[in-house]
Amino acid sequence: MVDHKKKALFICLGNICRSPIAEAVFQKTVNDMNLGEHWDIDSAAIGGWHVGNPPDWRALDTLKKHNVPYNNHARQITSEDFDYYDYILGMDESNMKDLNKKAPKGSKAKLLLFGDFDPQGDRIIRDPYYDSDSKGFEKCYEQSVRCSKGFWEHIANEK
Ligand code: 4NP
Repeated sequence: MVDHKKKALFICLGNICRSPIAEAVFQKTVNDMNLGEHWDIDSAAIGGWHVGNPPDWRALDTLKKHNVPYNNHARQITSEDFDYYDYILGMDESNMKDLNKKAPKGSKAKLLLFGDFDPQGDRIIRDPYYDSDSKGFEKCYEQSVRCSKGFWEHIANEK
C-alpha cells in the first residue's frame, strides 16, 4: 500500500529539551484537528549523549503543565532519516549547519528551521539546557505552539 502520511522529524542537539517539546506540541496540534493519522512524527538528536533517556524534567514539567502528553525517549539521527522523513526541522542555526553536513547527497528530506514558521518572527529556539530555571522551556513551548500552527498551514498550502 502506498504510504500517504506526511513525515516530520524534529531535531535539536540532545533530544531532551527542545525537540521533544516541538514533537509533542506538533503532534497535539495535528491531533486536535483530527489529522493525527495523516502524520508520522518523531524527534532525534544531533549528538548521542542522551540516547535512551526521557526528556529533561523541566521539559516534561512544561508539557504536563500544558496538558501535552509525551512518552518518547532520545535517539540520535541516522542517515536513513534523511530519506524517510519529508521534513527535518532544526531549532537553531547550529542544528541547521549540522543537518546540512550530515545529509547524504540527494536525500529526500527538506531541512527547515522550525522558527521560520513563527508568525512573530522569533526564528531561533534557544537551548535552555544549561539554564538554572524553567523559563527557557516555557518559551520553547510557546514558540513551538506558534511554529506548529505556522508549519501546518505552510504544508496545507503546499501543492
Ligand atoms: P536540547 O538541549 O538540544 O534542546 O536537547 C541540550 C541537551 C543536552 C546537551 C545539549 C543541549 N548536552 O550537551 O548534553
